[in-house]
Amino acid sequence: MPRFPNISDHAHTVSSRVYSSLEHRARLRNDDIYPLHVGDTYRDPVEAARAERQLTSEHPGLHKYAPVRGEPELIDAFVGYVKARHGETLEPEQVQVMSGATAGLSVVCQVLLAPGDEVLLPSPFWPLSRGIIATKGAVPVQVPFYTRLDEPGFDAEASLESAVTERTVALYVNTPNNPSGRVLSKATIDAMLRVAKRHDLWVLCDEAYEEIYFDQDPPEAVWKRPEVRDRAIAFHTLSKTYGLAGARVGFTHGPESIMATIAGMQTFHTYCAPRPMQFGAIKALRQGGAWVEQSRALYREAGYMTADTLGVARPRGGTFLFLDVSDLLDPGEEDCSVFLERCADQGVLLTPGRSCGADYAKWVRLCFTAVPPARLAAALARLAPVFRRPSC
Ligand SMILES: Cc1ncc(COP(=O)(O)O)c(C=O)c1O
Repeated sequence: MPRFPNISDHAHTVSSRVYSSLEHRARLRNDDIYPLHVGDTYRDPVEAARAERQLTSEHPGLHKYAPVRGEPELIDAFVGYVKARHGETLEPEQVQVMSGATAGLSVVCQVLLAPGDEVLLPSPFWPLSRGIIATKGAVPVQVPFYTRLDEPGFDAEASLESAVTERTVALYVNTPNNPSGRVLSKATIDAMLRVAKRHDLWVLCDEAYEEIYFDQDPPEAVWKRPEVRDRAIAFHTLSKTYGLAGARVGFTHGPESIMATIAGMQTFHTYCAPRPMQFGAIKALRQGGAWVEQSRALYREAGYMTADTLGVARPRGGTFLFLDVSDLLDPGEEDCSVFLERCADQGVLLTPGRSCGADYAKWVRLCFTAVPPARLAAALARLAPVFRRPSC
């Protein structure tokens, strides 16, 4: 029992120590730091959506609470976006405005999961997804997946199936994927959903990068599949699509039967998403189309340039490269901590692969949209000696 000064067991599962010590080390040796460990953009959002453009004169009570469900006009704008982008009609009652996808996933996990319940978490994954599940006292069951899709003989269905137990409650799917840059094919989605259907799992669809794709066609939205429409809960966000990460506005939607409970739970988390930025979000959704297209082209160029420079496969979407650096570690090194220190000594911060999955201790994640292209090129030049392969 965590009486003073102890804290709960599941609170020990989260930590940000790695990042802060590497940053401290980088700052000791460099005036200029390249924060490629943070998943964010160097681009400022479309003007009308910016914080400084939301005015009390236009929105009386700008700084008051918003309705728990979200500003009705914002819900309308999102429903319109979904119709235009996905050809699907959502009822306003199916939509909950959230303080980003992070809060969305957290609130939904609070609704669905009891301590000890398990969630299938194909890895590598967005680091916070594991922590969000763990902070509910539930168990994120890591299944090496996105990096294995091209392995001859890899069976997506069997790999997930073998991780199911009687405590499994949900499957988390993220395409385009942070960090691997992979976009799931129809066949892989079919395989994943067969497992979800067979075992009556909720399907948690993380759509954070739905607009950041580099092939001609947009990625398939998993939540739209008719076979899981009754059990799919989707998380959308303005953070990536519109460069509004600090605005903390996102959308969760799912079957109407569960949305009232999700709204109820949301009341006890953040009550509502920030009201001033909900008005900014309306502007982003209604006026941000060209901005999104421009970002997609710029991010594609940055992603391809980074991949080509480092000699790895080009990303299909998202804002990251996930790099296997096992051949760059010294003999006996069990993980990439020393490698990350070498990068930090060059002023470049990368994310340890282990935060994206226990099987990725010898991998690192790099965000290619965190700094403008010229600074990205400078960072890659600094990384060149660290990434030099022994045979080169
Ligand atoms: C896959 C994925 N989902 C969700 C989020 C968080 O989004 P938000 O800023 O809306 O909380 C991120 C942020 O990096 C992400 O990579």
